[in-house]
Amino acid sequence: MTAITLVQGDITLQTADAIVNAANSSLLGGSGVDGAIHRRGGPAILEECRRLRASQYGKGLPTGQAVATTAGDLDARWVIHTVGPVYQVSGGDPTLLASCYRESLRVADALGARTVAFPAISTGVYRWPMEDAARIAVQTVRAAETEVEEVRFVLFDERAYTAFAAQLP
Ligand code: APR
Repeated sequence: MTAITLVQGDITLQTADAIVNAANSSLLGGSGVDGAIHRRGGPAILEECRRLRASQYGKGLPTGQAVATTAGDLDARWVIHTVGPVYQVSGGDPTLLASCYRESLRVADALGARTVAFPAISTGVYRWPMEDAARIAVQTVRAAETEVEEVRFVLFDERAYTAFAAQLP
């Protein structure tokens, strides 16, 4: 049974086996969580992302999929990069956002990660309404068949924390 925990804070300061990045398809960095992870994680992460782009992800990481790299200087063993859907593009269809969580857990299981820290994927630059994103995130994690023992949602502000807390019993 996977425990779901909530923390309000900066995901790059978390200690976990795997920290999930809200990336974009290029895997070459950005702002928000992506910018913070590369800033604090250091160049090793980007170097590995570049190698992924030069090999099996020549066209970039598709929305809803996930791939792991080193965590560099973060207090984790891996960063799992996943690309969330843009709200306007998806028209609110939850499929691809749910896939980000499911695929990240699948990658975590393949690595043997037991604690996984997630940000609120797609709720920043990609403008997914927070309450709906929280519902999709918690429902997907609850329904997932995974060996991960703790899923920790790391919420950057009170609004996000409140939205996720409303999804827990
Ligand atoms: N720790 C935890 N949460 C954070 C942090 C942080 N250091 N920084 C931002 N957040 C929160 C935001 O407040 C938002 O609720 O993470 C959530 C996701 O926001 P974004 O990082 O903007 O991610 P997303 O909406 O999925 O957009 C992805 O943004 O940074 C670019 O390269 C990225 O193009 C991609 C897009």
